[in-house]
Amino acid sequence: MPSFAQRLFARTPMARSTRAYEFALTHLNLPPTPWVLDIGTGQGYGAAFLSRALPQARVVSIDVKMQCLHWDRLEVGPRRPYIVQASAPYMPFAWASMDAILAVMTFHCLPQPQRVLEEAARLLRPGGQLVIADVDGRHWIARPFEWVEHLFISPLTHAYTPEELETMLRRAGFSRVHFHKRPGKERGFLMWVIAQKEQA
Ligand SMILES: C[S@@+](CC[C@H](N)C(=O)[O-])C[C@H]1O[C@@H](n2cnc3c(N)ncnc32)[C@H](O)[C@@H]1O
Repeated sequence: MPSFAQRLFARTPMARSTRAYEFALTHLNLPPTPWVLDIGTGQGYGAAFLSRALPQARVVSIDVKMQCLHWDRLEVGPRRPYIVQASAPYMPFAWASMDAILAVMTFHCLPQPQRVLEEAARLLRPGGQLVIADVDGRHWIARPFEWVEHLFISPLTHAYTPEELETMLRRAGFSRVHFHKRPGKERGFLMWVIAQKEQA
């Protein structure tokens, strides 16, 4: 039985974000020393977690703004993540330079979402995978989530449905597209979309 402190910790953004990244990793097929791109660093917990969970990886994490990042408070792995200030529709990296790209609780607020997916397809090597972990647009919480975001955070926020995402992903050149919920949390509001770039 978890203690009160453990239950409280499990509700913090750090713990929730780490679990979302952790579940995403269970669906990735990565080479021994992968390049992994994290879109939307935010407070940096995801980038720090990736650098611990994948000690051989080069983790690159981008965000359009850096105000939330408190690097000194994060526990990172043996290779520090590279943090780059950039906007997702225009990512300053080379063609086929990434093995995996993750956007955890970020895709819903990105501008030019179709262009972001096309950028992700450009940056992934053939066979590379994109993970979008976000609010499921079919869940009852999706509309209240959008209202609150529009009022306080971003007018761009949209909680996508699996159908909307699949159409956009296929248009961007992704072949296999799979949707997942965490086992035991099938009715939860988070979904994970794993899309693979066509093999060469
Ligand atoms: C809710 S936070 C998610 C942070 C992190 N992925 C996590 O799960 O802890 C969403 C992040 O997306 C970033 N973001 C918004 N627009 C962006 C853009 N155009 N390019 C890159 N990042 C962007 C925001 O600044 C914010 O830090």
